[in-house]
Amino acid sequence: MSSKIIALASDHGGYELKTILKDTLAAQGFQVLDLGTDGPQSVDYPDFARAMATAIADGKAETGVLVCGTGIGMSIAANRYPQLRAALVHDAFGARLSRQHNDANVIVFGGRTTGVEVAKDCLSIFLSTPFEGGRHAVRVNKMSGPTK
Ligand code: RB5
Repeated sequence: MSSKIIALASDHGGYELKTILKDTLAAQGFQVLDLGTDGPQSVDYPDFARAMATAIADGKAETGVLVCGTGIGMSIAANRYPQLRAALVHDAFGARLSRQHNDANVIVFGGRTTGVEVAKDCLSIFLSTPFEGGRHAVRVNKMSGPTK
């Protein structure tokens, strides 16, 4: 059992992939926190990005997985919250670099654009790759500054 708690959230477009990734993580021994949605009915992705932001801010999870149809809406919504660094990932290279260079704490997938096995592979890489720090820390810190 890993002590890391991973929160997952999706809209209807990401519900199926979110469910598969949740079950995969649980089978691997991760603790999972499912923030919804709970079925295929149409919902609004910003509500679930907000739920993720709240869970991370409250320390209920360290890392997150967000899924919508394309991953684009979830990425835009998630990155409005300063405690989230959400990376929309489509391949293993992006998954690795989102950790090494960007210290992303949320990985975002498109449930209608990324296949299940690719998403599982990307998630595994994301969860096992450390941030490199150094010059990348300087750049990441610059994203916490003024908004103008
Ligand atoms: C919902 O139809 C769809 O717009 C949403 O899942 C997402 O792709 C938005 O970016």
